[in-house]
Amino acid sequence: PKARVIFSGIQPTGVPHLGNYVGALRQWLRLQHLEKPDTKLIYSIVDLHAITVPQDPVKLRRHKREALAALLAIGIDPDRCTLFYQSSVPAHSELMWILSCTASVGYLSRMTQWKQKLSLSPTSHIEDQPVSSRLKLGLFAYPVLQAADVLVHRATHVPVGHDQAQHLEFVRECATNFNHAYGSCLVRPETMIPPVHRIMSLTDPTSKMSKSHKSERSRILITDTPDEIRAKISSALTDSQAGISYDMATRPGISNLLDILSIFDAHQRSPAELAEAYSQTHPRQFKAMVADSIIQGLHGIRSRFLELLDSDSTYLDYAEAQGARKARENAEETMEMVRSAVGL
Ligand code: ADP
Ligand code: NA
Repeated sequence: PKARVIFSGIQPTGVPHLGNYVGALRQWLRLQHLEKPDTKLIYSIVDLHAITVPQDPVKLRRHKREALAALLAIGIDPDRCTLFYQSSVPAHSELMWILSCTASVGYLSRMTQWKQKLSLSPTSHIEDQPVSSRLKLGLFAYPVLQAADVLVHRATHVPVGHDQAQHLEFVRECATNFNHAYGSCLVRPETMIPPVHRIMSLTDPTSKMSKSHKSERSRILITDTPDEIRAKISSALTDSQAGISYDMATRPGISNLLDILSIFDAHQRSPAELAEAYSQTHPRQFKAMVADSIIQGLHGIRSRFLELLDSDSTYLDYAEAQGARKARENAEETMEMVRSAVGL
């Protein structure tokens, strides 16, 4: 059987929070250990996707480096993986253009993310004048760029959250359209749905932990100091019931803390098992335990992150150059086939 190729991307939006770590980055790290050595792991910091919404150039540049440093700090190995900035590989944009020529506008207009990003209602339509004048072409077409990201690396598997399943459908649609027009040369990737751990906001445990939340107390950054982690967990919103029990519907705050404890638990106990073990524990003491387990679980990340971003360090530049070279070489193999199939 042919070796697997796994592609995954993350937007450069600043230092990752605990939700990003658990929901995405930790999976990337796991794949390094779980996959056979001949599986290609291709991880991209997707800066071209970031500019589908307005960005401050200085901040974007900083966020890119912080994303790269955060990935290296958690243990992504740039020699084992291909870790690169999307914009370092022009083939992503080139393939996007070529795919645009066989992609259907109707299909794109039925996708929902551009509506969410513009805070439009799900029923709003691209042909409504106020909608179409606000909607930029790049935001509308970015699923085509996402398709190019995956297809240019001949990915066989793409890990996605449930909310992204629609996008991978579209990636396969783009491959099918291209192959139909020009003969089979693009690989249709399979969806990998990793076990879902959704971490909720610490200040509003009925919504997910997110960088778009105004309150900085709502999320733990993977580079927070032990004191910051203790303060945030100690002020996390819980209820006034005595003791600890696991029930997302009636006790979302405590249950979210149990989820977090379970993620870092050395004995890999489930949230329900932990609830039983600590049923009589006072919430204040319980919170202190949760904080300690996060501090231990994230141990070393902060100091590696700061070291990598230190102006004396050249390691980030090394990793950037190495990733760009490997990604360009891999993408170029596909582009040679594609250009030849199209007659370019
Ligand atoms: P944010 O909600 O902070 O904007 P993104 O939407 O950029 O985060 O998500 C980046 C990655 O992190 C995605 O793979 C997403 O599934 C994952 N992720 C984001 N928030 C959470 C969360 N609260 N719990 C689990 N995974 C999350
Ligand atoms: Na988001």
